[in-house]
This record gives sequence, C-alpha cells and structure tokens, in this order.
Amino acid sequence: MVELSPSILNSDYLALSEALGQMEAAGVDMVHLDVMDGMFVPNISFGVPVIRSIRAHTRLPLDVHLMIEKPHRYLKEFAAVSDYLGFHYEAGSPVRETLREIRALHCRSCLTIKPATDPEVVLEFLEDCDMVLVMSVEPGFGGQAFLPSALDKLSFLRAEIDRRGLATKLEVDGGINAETAPKAVAAGADVLVAGNYLFSAPDLAARAKEIKLLG
Ligand code: DX5
Ligand code: ZN
Repeated sequence: MVELSPSILNSDYLALSEALGQMEAAGVDMVHLDVMDGMFVPNISFGVPVIRSIRAHTRLPLDVHLMIEKPHRYLKEFAAVSDYLGFHYEAGSPVRETLREIRALHCRSCLTIKPATDPEVVLEFLEDCDMVLVMSVEPGFGGQAFLPSALDKLSFLRAEIDRRGLATKLEVDGGINAETAPKAVAAGADVLVAGNYLFSAPDLAARAKEIKLLG
C-alpha cells in the first residue's frame, strides 16, 4: 500500500493535536512539514519550535520539507526534530555533503527537485538518498493543481531506483487528490504528500484512508 504523508501547511494550527489524532487513527505513515523562509520560496511558514511541539504530540514520523536557502546552515537544528529531512537540489547547499550530514545526524535524507529541474541531476546522488521528492507544483503554496510533467519524472526515477536495487523511497508533493493519486502511484511514487485534499474534507481520517486505498 502507498504511504501517505499529510501536509499540515493549510490546516488550523491551533487544532493540530486533534488532526494528529485523526491522522494516527487513519493509519497515515508520516506527517509532512513544510518549512519556508520567504527567500527560496515566496512564502513564510514555520520552523523548529513548531516542529518540536508537533513532535511532542505524536509518534508519527516527521517528514520535514525544507524550502529554505542554503539549508546546510540549519541541519543540526532541524535534524534534532525530524525523521526524514529533505532539502532542495536548487537551494544552494553542497548536495552530497548535505545528504551525508543528514544521515550522520541520524535522519533519513531526502533530495527534492522543483518542477523545472531535470530528474537526471538526482542520479549521481541516489545512493545517498533515503528518499527523493518530486515536486508536482511550484513549491511555496498548498492548494495548487498537479503538474502532469511530474509523472514522467517519477517513472524515470522509479526505473533507476529499481534497476540499482535501492530501497530509496519516491515521494510526490503537490496537488494530490483522488484523481491524481492513482496516476502518481502508477508512475512509481510510493509516498504521497497531500495537503488541501485532506484538510478540506469534513472527515480527515476517512479521506486519508481513501487516498491510501487508491494507491
Ligand atoms: C508546497 C508544499 C506542499 C503543499 C501540498 O510548497 O511543499 O507540501 O502543502 O499541498 P497540496 O496537497 O494542497 O498541494
Ligand atoms: Zn511539501
């Protein structure tokens, strides 16, 4: 079954502990946390103190998606509160060193690419990645439409991960709903991030279960 990582970006932050309980009850696999610095992306979200509070309220693994410039400057702080720690290929940090430092800090490493980035750039780093994240929207905001160009990228990376016999997970983020989830899974994604589709539902847990079954 596909893994689900709900993004809380557009949720009610004061109702998070209830939402976390619903996610646990629905059997989601991790929680996706979008960190934005207003520089790498034109939006500002939250940082370490908020993630630390979330961590104290759930046993779900935390899947932290850094959308910040030069993320290697803050690895120690984020690694202390993350399970998966991901950063962007385009963010200006030395890619291999950053991936390795994340592992040395006892987190799973995740390399993320924006929609305009060729997935070939990931290949030389695959062995250093516990997960690769393909963005299916421009990073910065929830609630955008899924870009179908992500599907070919997923297939390309899935083929290479399988050919090399790696356990690297392949995650997709942006515009995931009942229509796009099966397409992303058919293209090779094994972790789906979903934000608005889950948090706009009257029953978050029911919708989370539905997405997992679709995959
Ligand atoms: C966008 C974020 C996403 C976003 C997903 O920059 O990385 O995680 O919150 O939200 P939806 O599922 O609404 O596209
Ligand atoms: Zn994200």
